Amino acid sequence: MSRIRRRKWARPELEKDPKVIFQPQEYQGKWPELFKNQNPIHLELGCGQGEFISQCAENNPHLNFIAIDLYNEVLVQTLRKLNENSLENVRLIPMNIRLINEIFAEDEVAKIYINFCNPWPKRRHHIRRLTHPVFLEKYKKFLINKGEVCFKTDDDGLFQDSLKYFAESGFKELYKTFDLHSSSYAQNNIVTKYEEKFSSQGIKIKFGIFQNNK
Ligand SMILES: C[S@@+](CC[C@H](N)C(=O)[O-])C[C@H]1O[C@@H](n2cnc3c(N)ncnc32)[C@H](O)[C@@H]1O
Repeated sequence: MSRIRRRKWARPELEKDPKVIFQPQEYQGKWPELFKNQNPIHLELGCGQGEFISQCAENNPHLNFIAIDLYNEVLVQTLRKLNENSLENVRLIPMNIRLINEIFAEDEVAKIYINFCNPWPKRRHHIRRLTHPVFLEKYKKFLINKGEVCFKTDDDGLFQDSLKYFAESGFKELYKTFDLHSSSYAQNNIVTKYEEKFSSQGIKIKFGIFQNNK
C-alpha cells in the first residue's frame, strides 16, 4: 500500500474521467440526475482497488453504484477496472467517509457495503470504526427504510462489537455468519482483495446483513 500511495500521477488520471466526482456535495439529492435514471443506488465505503464494486456493477447493470475511498491511488486501480470492462453504472468519490452525510439526501441510498474496514482495536479509536454508532446514525438518514448494510471483516473483536453497534442503532439483524465461506451465502459472495489475503491465512470471514428501520 505505501508504494502505491506515493504515486503522484493518480489525481490527474482521475480528473480526466467523468466517473470520478470531486465535488460530491453538489449532487446531494441529485444522484439520479447524474446517473440519468432512477435505478437504486448501492454504496461501497472504503472500496480499495475496486474488485468488489467492479464485479457488483458487472453483475447488476440495472443498479447504480457509488464507491468511496480516501486515496486517489487506490481509486485509480478501481477506475481502470471499470474502464477495462466498460462499466458505466459506477461513480467514484475520493473523500473521507466522515463527511458522508454531506453528499446524500434522505432515502437516497438502497444498500451499503462495508468490506474489511480498519478495525481500530484501541478503545479510544473505536469511534473511527465505520460501523460505530456515530457512523450508523449518519447512514440511517440517507439509507431507505428497510435498506441494508452488508458488512464483512476478518476481525473478531470488530465483528462482535459491530453486532452490538447495529442493534444499539436500531438496525435489525437479517443474517449473520462467523464463517462466510462455509455459509449458505458463499455462492453470492464476491471476494475482495483483503478477503483473499485473510482467508489464505486461514482466518474465517465474518459477515452480517443489517436492515435499517426508520
Ligand atoms: C483495509 S482496506 C479494504 C479495501 C477493500 N474494501 C477490500 O476489502 O479489499 C480499507 C480501505 O478503506 C479506506 N478507508 C479507510 N478509512 C476511510 C475513510 N475514513 N474514508 C474513506 N476511505 C477510507 C482505505 O483507504 C482502504 O482503501
